[in-house]
Amino acid sequence: MPTEIASSVLDLVGNTPLLALDRLWPGPGRILAKCEFLNPCGSIKDRSSLHMVQGALASGKLAPHGKVIEVTSGNQGCGLAMVCSVLDHPLTITMSKGNSPQRAEMMRGLGANVILTDQVEGQPGNVTLADVQVATDTAMAIIEKTGAYNIDQFNNPNNSQAHYDSTGKEIWRQTGGKVDAWLATVGTAGTFAGVSRFLKEKNPDVVCVAVEPDGAQVIKGCAVERPLHLLQGSGYGVVQPLFKFDTMDFTLGVTDKEAVEYKQLLGKKEGIYVGYTSGANVAAAVKLLKSGKLPKDAWVVTVLNDTGLKYPEIEFNWDNE
Ligand SMILES: Cc1ncc(COP(=O)(O)O)c(C=O)c1O
Repeated sequence: MPTEIASSVLDLVGNTPLLALDRLWPGPGRILAKCEFLNPCGSIKDRSSLHMVQGALASGKLAPHGKVIEVTSGNQGCGLAMVCSVLDHPLTITMSKGNSPQRAEMMRGLGANVILTDQVEGQPGNVTLADVQVATDTAMAIIEKTGAYNIDQFNNPNNSQAHYDSTGKEIWRQTGGKVDAWLATVGTAGTFAGVSRFLKEKNPDVVCVAVEPDGAQVIKGCAVERPLHLLQGSGYGVVQPLFKFDTMDFTLGVTDKEAVEYKQLLGKKEGIYVGYTSGANVAAAVKLLKSGKLPKDAWVVTVLNDTGLKYPEIEFNWDNE
């Protein structure tokens, strides 16, 4: 008798459903969202976690059962903790205290050694590049001492390759090749760059749009006016090494208020509870469909990056918007 048994949780990474947000956006056109919150550790970063560890093992840069280290805003660390526990690699994570404590708890629950570093610029819920630098310096000191393999998601080509090989390919298959536009927020740029490259190779007319926090639109070419924003895991205020301008058509900015509004609408209209970058992606998809830049019946594809369960309750004060 045929069986349907996953041999490990790693078999459950990716192949997420593509969901039509027809209640939130009844048309014209359609918003189609990859349900990345359904990955085993609740985020899109499970994909790159698996790909980067497998790539390091295949190249011999990481020995079987060797030590692994990474700097993370949390989602990458959760994915890596899952991969490292199944493949039996000791994992150390350094993370700014400004990221959500739920993620640190989850990584510890998955067996990782989590080191939280002080914030030098941001505040809880708002993590800046300077805060990430402190976590990076801490990781570097540990690498020097222990020789642990540095995943280095911001510079690791297997990060964007994960999305070229899986997310992009799945989107193409699930839409039957009818993708008019693709958009996503940009953290390391792995997701946006990998998917954009795949889709542009299939059809150069797919419009690829990078989503940035209002006031930190560096890909657009603007100076950073507001480094503090709610789009945790994205919008670090610098153009990342994995970002490729040749597969991007233009950018769209999203305010914190818009991200929260669409995060809440996703809950109320679609019955899905996701994080802030997911809200930002859907807010940007609505803007794009309203912009007149696409055909009326366009299909806009995006990602619901992670579950809302990873965030603490935040009291919003919109006076600065
Ligand atoms: C919630 C969330 N959204 C978006 C992103 C951005 O993804 P990428 O690093 O692939 O650009 C991240 C990355 O950590 C994230 O945690």
